[in-house]
Amino acid sequence: MAEARDLDTIFVRKIPFEFPEDLQPHWNSEQVEWSHMVNGTSLAMPFLEPYLIRTMRKALPAIDSEVLRDEVKLYISQEGQHYQQHRKFNDLLIAKGYSELKAVEQAMAEEYRAFEKTRSLKFNLAYACGFESMALGIGHWLVEDRETLFAGADTRVASLILWHFIEEIEHKNVAFDAYQSVYGDYFYRVYATVFATLHVMKFSRHAYQAMLKKDGLWGNLSSRWRLLKMISRFFGNMLPPMLSACMPWHHPSKVQDPQWYQSWVEKYRKDPSSAMVDTTCL
Ligand SMILES: [Fe+2]
Ligand SMILES: [Fe+2]
Repeated sequence: MAEARDLDTIFVRKIPFEFPEDLQPHWNSEQVEWSHMVNGTSLAMPFLEPYLIRTMRKALPAIDSEVLRDEVKLYISQEGQHYQQHRKFNDLLIAKGYSELKAVEQAMAEEYRAFEKTRSLKFNLAYACGFESMALGIGHWLVEDRETLFAGADTRVASLILWHFIEEIEHKNVAFDAYQSVYGDYFYRVYATVFATLHVMKFSRHAYQAMLKKDGLWGNLSSRWRLLKMISRFFGNMLPPMLSACMPWHHPSKVQDPQWYQSWVEKYRKDPSSAMVDTTCL
């Protein structure tokens, strides 16, 4: 387990994001396929994150370290903020004509409930740990590649996504430490990391496929090509951190935080309105 850390490193930010009527599902108008990939991931959050919260809550009594228990509570508060903001954004997506997403939501609700009913706490905690490895990799990618991914995009959505994954970087150690402290089974962790990654990707794909179909783009060759390029970019950026997370010596604390992450955190401390990023100069 990592050494005790300053609890100030996990800070619960309640950001009053708003997603008014004028916000478009193609919030990055130059990159419709990318917009829908993000929308698809957003769709999963109000199902995935409450499941992570319930799992971590169940693990709390088995965690010996008081410091870690306090970190788990902060983790729960952060994830609680994340899914509530995504819920508002997802409601807007559905209201804007993507009612097919409700079927994907239903499937996610059922699968996560089934995990809790039929699988062990070891599985669910390992899933949380595995998903957090993925979230850390995505956080680094979004931050390092922010200009390509968010330049010129709607600031409200870009800010939501960047805030969320800034906090994923911030709480990178918690689910890992919780799993290590309660179970610590290495091979099971690797299995669950692969499982959780593919599981979240499956739902995200169902969602962006439904939205691209609705747009009449799913059968369009140039749209498919742009989607393929973005998926390749995702895999190119995710493969190294995921492989690294599967090594026996891995600990998230060894992953150096990006510079932009640190400046985002410092800026926010001085001025919370800085959470709204300027997408004209990323
Ligand atoms: Fe989150
Ligand atoms: Fe997280």
